[in-house]
Amino acid sequence: MAKTFFIETWGCQMNDLDSQRLSGGLKLRGYRRVESEHEADVILLNTCSIREKSEQKVFSRLGELRLVKKSRGEVTIGVCGCVAQQEGQRILDRAPWVDFVMGPGNVGNLDAVLDGSASIAIDFPEDRTYDYLSIDRSSATKAWVTVMEGCNKNCTFCIVPTTRGREVSRPFDEVAAEARAAVESGRVEIELLGQTVNAYRCPVSGRDFGTLLSSVARLDGVLRLRFMTSHPAEVSDSMIEAMREHTNISRYLHLPVQSGSSKILRRMKRLYTREKYLEIVGRIREAVPEIHFSTDVIVGFPGETEEDFQQSLSLVEEVRYGSMFAFKYSPRPGTPALKLGQPVDDEVASERLTRLFEVHERIKRQRLESYRGRVLPVLYEGPSRNDPAMLAGRTDDNWVVNFVGNRAMPLGSILGVRIDQAQHHTLRGEAV
Ligand code: SAH
Ligand code: F3S
Repeated sequence: MAKTFFIETWGCQMNDLDSQRLSGGLKLRGYRRVESEHEADVILLNTCSIREKSEQKVFSRLGELRLVKKSRGEVTIGVCGCVAQQEGQRILDRAPWVDFVMGPGNVGNLDAVLDGSASIAIDFPEDRTYDYLSIDRSSATKAWVTVMEGCNKNCTFCIVPTTRGREVSRPFDEVAAEARAAVESGRVEIELLGQTVNAYRCPVSGRDFGTLLSSVARLDGVLRLRFMTSHPAEVSDSMIEAMREHTNISRYLHLPVQSGSSKILRRMKRLYTREKYLEIVGRIREAVPEIHFSTDVIVGFPGETEEDFQQSLSLVEEVRYGSMFAFKYSPRPGTPALKLGQPVDDEVASERLTRLFEVHERIKRQRLESYRGRVLPVLYEGPSRNDPAMLAGRTDDNWVVNFVGNRAMPLGSILGVRIDQAQHHTLRGEAV
């Protein structure tokens, strides 16, 4: 009987995509995917270490898996992802029932860890295997396509440059070929991924991100093109021009600001000031007025005063982000911010986080309400998650819409939906 595997994934889209690659690699080797650890011969945890909380979850989960292994014996347990990269041998010391530890640089090299010849694979090989044809894509309408791995920015709070290595862009032609293959397999939406996706530069031809965007946007059958995550300091004229020119490029841009205070931004090494950030936002808005900006904010970074925090509040008001992800600063091992002094008192940081969400909630509500009564183009993705009687899809500017419509319609169709209600962070309507 075929061997089985189970994968659990935490963290960002890059991790989700790595899990799709791992799953594809295992299926190629004859394994069958199961949805429960109790039926699996191989159990993989694809972990995240961006904040301390995510990291702690891994060890409590490993405690549970120890019991699974005790009761069943023949189970292989692998820890993958950023905690694997960061902790390496320490995971095997602390949880000796783990069979192997494999970092993000080795997702393409499954053989050595599966056949037991290696228990630690945490290097970043020069010639990483990237078998895009075997990716086990979970969505019928959408494909993630990596344009680069790693990160060369050294934001002082961030563990990613350690866990995902130096920035390596994939050749332009390979990215384009992967996007074409995804379209041929029926996916109408492509999302280009990279830690600083807009720093992309083809290692062969030197072509930049704007050129890549335009070229993928022009592929026949790409109804929608998205990308994540853009670094503000890497926003270029060619990127903005591509967004203006190609209307199939999503009117949504995640542009993490982290703080509204230039003093804190300098301490974070974000490579822009508040003024510079606002200027970039202005340039993009001028080219694409309907854009939905989304952002990440950190509160309680070492040295953040009430005044600095007020500047984050006012920046959120000024940009009027449709979406915002905000976090309390979490000290990460080996990062330069550890030397910048104590983080802000936890209670103060929590209170700032609450105030920030309150301000943003109001802005988001206004934006969502503004769609009421309008007919928006929606890309149909399948049944609604909360109410299977409804259908679900997304607008051009990336809002989830649950709607009443004809379920016989092909997945990936774009149709008009009249919005009749704004919910907490989604819209509701009826196909017209
Ligand atoms: N370029 C990446 C950023 C990864 S981290 C991307 O693809 O999104 C995602 C977000 O987590 C960051 O933008 C930042 O707001 C937050 N973050 C990173 N390190 C953090 C830390 N040490 N404490 C709190 N939040 C952090
Ligand atoms: Fe992290 Fe900054 Fe790179 S947030 S992923 S070091 S751009």
